[in-house]
Amino acid sequence: MSGGAQVRALQPGYLIVGNWKMNKGPAEAPALADAIVGAVGSPRCAVAICPSFVSLPAVMARLEGSPVALGAQTCATAQSGAFTGEVSPTMLSEVGVRYVILGHSERRQHSGETDASVAARIRAALDAGLRPILCVGESEAQRECGETEALLSSQLKGALGGLSGDQMAKVAVAYEPIWAIGTGKTATEAQAEATCAFIRGQLSELFDDDIAAGTPILYGGSMNAQNAAGLLSCPNINGGLVGGASLKPDDFAAIVAAADRLEAENHVG
Ligand code: 13P
Repeated sequence: MSGGAQVRALQPGYLIVGNWKMNKGPAEAPALADAIVGAVGSPRCAVAICPSFVSLPAVMARLEGSPVALGAQTCATAQSGAFTGEVSPTMLSEVGVRYVILGHSERRQHSGETDASVAARIRAALDAGLRPILCVGESEAQRECGETEALLSSQLKGALGGLSGDQMAKVAVAYEPIWAIGTGKTATEAQAEATCAFIRGQLSELFDDDIAAGTPILYGGSMNAQNAAGLLSCPNINGGLVGGASLKPDDFAAIVAAADRLEAENHVG
């Protein structure tokens, strides 16, 4: 990897986000939220969980007064209007959502999200006061063909190009190699660090060194209780976007605890 590993993260403080994907409807979600709140205790780092749209109000009721924030898994490109089936960032904000995952590879693959539509969603989310988590990442074939950097570069530029520094200060980026999602095949620490360093370098080119250094860059893809500490200790990794393990309160709490230990050691937060 090349291009910008020299821009060192300012250690923005760890952010651990659970993406429940299409699991846990309103009947089951409150119990999982309760278990997660109980298991994570009082973390130093920032923690959020992202249930499906229909479970958001029920989960919010359980997160009230807890250190765990609510997130959503996508949002519409506009705040209201003739967009049948869509959910706007303003609506999400009304139910207490603070973060929104955008451009997840599963949405790019199955629901037609493109860099252009992700860019519009990011702007709409920011307008509603939400914090977007932009997902980028390559397929196995793209990595093998040496296309990772070009792809990440165009995903970042396509989604973030033209944002102001103030807008970018609210955005986190998640590096999620598609081949590591739900496969149990995690990127090695060296691969994840090199790629996140490349992403930070791209942010430096798109914005400036300070914005790049202050942007939380999360790793996602089979992060679990065993590999979290190693991945999170990489200098350019500021958190995790956790799928399967976020449905298991003890495993999710172990990831949060790993981030907390590192945050305490680094004296950040
Ligand atoms: P897994 O942790 O299940 O691999 O999922 C990662 C992911 O896609 C989070 O958004």
